Amino acid sequence: MERTMNLETVGKIGQTVTVKGWIHTRRNMGKLAFLDVRDRSGILQVVLVPSELSDNAKAEMDSLRPEDCIAVTGVINQRGEKQINPNMPTGTVEMLAKDIEVYNHAQTPPFEIDKDTSAVNEELRLKYRYLDLRSERMIRNLDLRCKVVGFMRNFMVANGFLEVETPNMTKGTPEGSREYLVPSRVHPGKFYVLPQSPQQFKQLLMVAGVEKYFQIAKCFRDEDARGDRQMEFTQLDFEMSFVKQEEVMELVERMMLELVRSVTPDKKLTFQKFPRVTYAESMEKYGNDKPDMREDKNNPNELAFCWVVDFPMFEYSEQGRLVSSHHPFTAPLDEDVGLLEDQPLKARAKAYDLVLNGYEAGGGSIRIHGRELQNKIFQILGLEDADIQARFGHMLEAFTYGAPPHGGMAPGIDRLVMLLAGEPNIREVIAFPKTGDARDPMTGAPSELPAEQIAEAHIKIIK
Ligand code: AMO
Repeated sequence: MERTMNLETVGKIGQTVTVKGWIHTRRNMGKLAFLDVRDRSGILQVVLVPSELSDNAKAEMDSLRPEDCIAVTGVINQRGEKQINPNMPTGTVEMLAKDIEVYNHAQTPPFEIDKDTSAVNEELRLKYRYLDLRSERMIRNLDLRCKVVGFMRNFMVANGFLEVETPNMTKGTPEGSREYLVPSRVHPGKFYVLPQSPQQFKQLLMVAGVEKYFQIAKCFRDEDARGDRQMEFTQLDFEMSFVKQEEVMELVERMMLELVRSVTPDKKLTFQKFPRVTYAESMEKYGNDKPDMREDKNNPNELAFCWVVDFPMFEYSEQGRLVSSHHPFTAPLDEDVGLLEDQPLKARAKAYDLVLNGYEAGGGSIRIHGRELQNKIFQILGLEDADIQARFGHMLEAFTYGAPPHGGMAPGIDRLVMLLAGEPNIREVIAFPKTGDARDPMTGAPSELPAEQIAEAHIKIIK
């Protein structure tokens, strides 16, 4: 029989239908049993009365346990006045079961799935992530993420952007983190690196004349995971030609306002026009560069977006080296170009961060589009000419073929969804995240490999 989704049963009173899903809970009442059957649309109450069941179903009845995957065929009945459950979308109906097919029984799950799993040991949740994701909060988070990404994609296309995929096996872009290396089998001793962001490719797409590019981009950074950081995460990456900082910020501001109003309309937006603070002001006033501007800092339903602008071009790394505050492709403020040579630490950048409730929700900049200035920045960063050529020669060369002025940004999708979902960390809004020490307890990644596979990659393990 054709499948009916649980939610549709409210419109099928008196009809015999088949629903398919998982047993959420089972309650025994003397000879009767009540099952809550769960599918993607919701929960349906199913009543098992032995005298109403087929012989097959009667034989199965005692064996049915939570999380068994089943199909139930039965009649949809209106519930009596007293039995109506107003808290349940299908609370006005129930199914009187006639026949049951068991696709697969389930072992007793390692934790309760019919309750919020946030208090369960996280290692256990990640080991059995496919069970964790059956819980209501987790599926709601995935659903919200899908809506956010869907909104962004539609918004960008509607605003004239072209979605372009860029490679994940590449030469890497410096964004301040360590890179993940992929050894080449065909080129012994050579490596691809996984991109920390599509930064170079999106700039090259501007040289290519794409003018408005976007991508829902996976980024890879070998850094210690934290609540708001994963080694593998997703950005809405975009780039525009012939734009000023204002236009990039205006676009993002409009997108975020429309996104919140359409996807999470119950949230309170503190600002309909996002306030701006300079990096210097923010450090002085708030002691950090990602101020939490909520009126009530304990209210997760309040969203306070703001901009931090005029970041310094450079800062000192922990190792005491001069590094780019954003990345080396970021343009200096016009009035600060003269400071680059002698007082680089004083030079400010055309760089801007979108901040939300004390988190850096996105970062971007207007880029350098001239070969000479770009080369100078690499020199200030202490790179030798040969090194510049080997690592960034293709960028410098591209700039000599009529590169347009350009700029862009990359809102971080995981952090945004985390805040919209009111979750305390981004692992709650990523289907299969890694632990704090970069493991996947479910698959066991990272893992050792057979010696021959390692040899094929021309790798020698030093223990
Ligand atoms: P940036 O490095 O500032 O800029 O990153 C942009 C946004 O990505 C998110 N983000 C992360 N989210 C989860 N885990 C991480 N490890 C992580 N790292 C960053 C943040 C951050 O604001 N190429 C530039 C963008 C540009 O200049 O256009 C870039 O990647 O929300």
